[in-house]
Amino acid sequence: MQHDLKGRVALITGGARGIGQACAVVLAQCGAEIAVCDLLPIGETVGKTKDLKRRCLGKQVDVTHRNELKRFVEEALAFFSKIDTLVTCAAICPNGYVPNREP
Ligand SMILES: NC(=O)c1ccc[n+]([C@@H]2O[C@H](COP(=O)([O-])OP(=O)(O)OC[C@H]3O[C@@H](n4cnc5c(N)ncnc54)[C@H](O)[C@@H]3O)[C@@H](O)[C@H]2O)c1
Repeated sequence: MQHDLKGRVALITGGARGIGQACAVVLAQCGAEIAVCDLLPIGETVGKTKDLKRRCLGKQVDVTHRNELKRFVEEALAFFSKIDTLVTCAAICPNGYVPNREP
């Protein structure tokens, strides 16, 4: 099934390989613009999305470093003006009951 995501922006963490990279490619195939980050070099994923003629912002980011991640989100917002979708293949999972956590 092909969805039309033209004009949508997806931000993906952990996008250098695996599920994150596959999501970046599929979302780009559906027309979305892509902001993608990973601890690893992100060039392969950026290349794959740009081959699909989509704008892509890629960066090496450690999502466990709050300020690094915040800077990347701010850069993505400055570049694309919005973020519609999040795919969090790399994330943190602090101990504690989820509903009691701070966002
Ligand atoms: N593959 C599966 O069958 C499966 C099933 C259920 C859940 N998951 C979960 O889905 C997510 C992705 O799975 P995957 O198989 O694509 O894993 P993967 O290991 O292939 O990819 C994870 C990516 O996250 C990046 N990453 C790790 N720590 C990071 C950090 N601190 N900052 C930035 N990037 C970081 C890695 O460099 C890697 O590129 C994982 O959270 C995994 O636990 C996977």
